[in-house]
Amino acid sequence: MEKIVILTGAGISAESGLGTFRDAGGIWSENRIEDVATPEAFARDAARVHRFYNARRVQAAAAEPNAAHAALARLQAGHPGEVVIVTQNVDGLHEAAGSRGVIHMHGELARALCAACGLRWDAAPEMSPSDACPGCGARACRPDVVWFGEMPYRMEEVLDHLAGADVFAAIGTSGEVWPAAGFAQEAALAGAHCVEINPEASAVASDFHEARRGRASEMVPAWVADLLGGAGDQSL
Ligand code: APR
Repeated sequence: MEKIVILTGAGISAESGLGTFRDAGGIWSENRIEDVATPEAFARDAARVHRFYNARRVQAAAAEPNAAHAALARLQAGHPGEVVIVTQNVDGLHEAAGSRGVIHMHGELARALCAACGLRWDAAPEMSPSDACPGCGARACRPDVVWFGEMPYRMEEVLDHLAGADVFAAIGTSGEVWPAAGFAQEAALAGAHCVEINPEASAVASDFHEARRGRASEMVPAWVADLLGGAGDQSL
């Protein structure tokens, strides 16, 4: 049974209306990473960091999964072998489309974390520095997202999946941020066929055996239909 491992990035959610980071007009052209997405930024101005994530949390909660998210859910349901989705995205659109067991290596907007005691819970739509941890009471609540300089979540698990992959696909990611940018190399070392689905060549495009150049909402359903042998091409 072929094991398929899929990495997704902001590009898969672009057609659901959520911004990417490095495209023209992207999130990092309006906010500096060092002001809103590092532990130092949070220590310096927690209110500003919460405002940044509150806006994204509210926007993500109102977004709908698109045909690409739906196609990956169909692939998980229809493929006889294991299909593992690892996402860099902090939105919940894979789950909203019906995908299961999604590995959020950069965390999730919908979850909160206490920096004092490590408790995690479902975040309120808007968080603030005055929120008290429901566990220990400390006013140390933060979005449960991975900031620059922090370790991504569940990397051991991800590397194990890559070591056993027969097919690896990277969808909608620029390949600018490590360790995710190195996943294709890992998968290729394990003998996987590596596919990049992106309108543009990523920074690590040369690590892939195949490229499907186009928007996720068109290319992912077509790719899934090929994998499921035509059975997966029901229209949305
Ligand atoms: N369909 C598919 N891909 C698209 C689409 C689309 N409709 N629109 C844009 N893209 C591609 C772009 O070509 C680009 O390669 O999506 C990619 C977006 O790249 P980034 O904005 O860098 O997003 P991502 O790769 O997910 O960033 C990785 O960086 O800032 C951190 O933690 C953040 O998880 C994020 C990580």
